Amino acid sequence: DTNWTDALAAADLPGDDVIGVAVAGRDIAVYTVGDEVYATDNLCTHGNARLCDGFLEGHEIECPLHQGKFDVRNGQPTCSPVTQALRSYPVKIEAGRVFVQVD
Ligand code: FES
Repeated sequence: DTNWTDALAAADLPGDDVIGVAVAGRDIAVYTVGDEVYATDNLCTHGNARLCDGFLEGHEIECPLHQGKFDVRNGQPTCSPVTQALRSYPVKIEAGRVFVQVD
C-alpha cells in the first residue's frame, strides 16, 4: 500500500540545508531541519528554478529566482510571489538510508 523509494544515504544528508535528488525519475528537494527530514518537488511552482539552489532558513526554503518562500514541512507558500503549493512527500530513515514515498 506504500511505495517507498530509496533516495540517498542518511550519511549524505546535509546539516540544516537542502539538496536535489533524483527519486524514481523525479527531481526532489530533500531538506534537513535539525533532526527532521522533509521532501518536496524541487522545481518552484512559480517558475523555472530549483529549490535546491535556494536558501533554507528554519522550515522555509527561499527560491533563488524571485525569493518566494515555501514551508518545507507541507509545501505551502509562505511569501510572495509564490501562490501555489509545492507537492510534499513523506520521508523515513531506515537502516541508514533515506526513503521518499513518491507515489
Ligand atoms: Fe521561484 Fe519565481 S521561480 S519565486
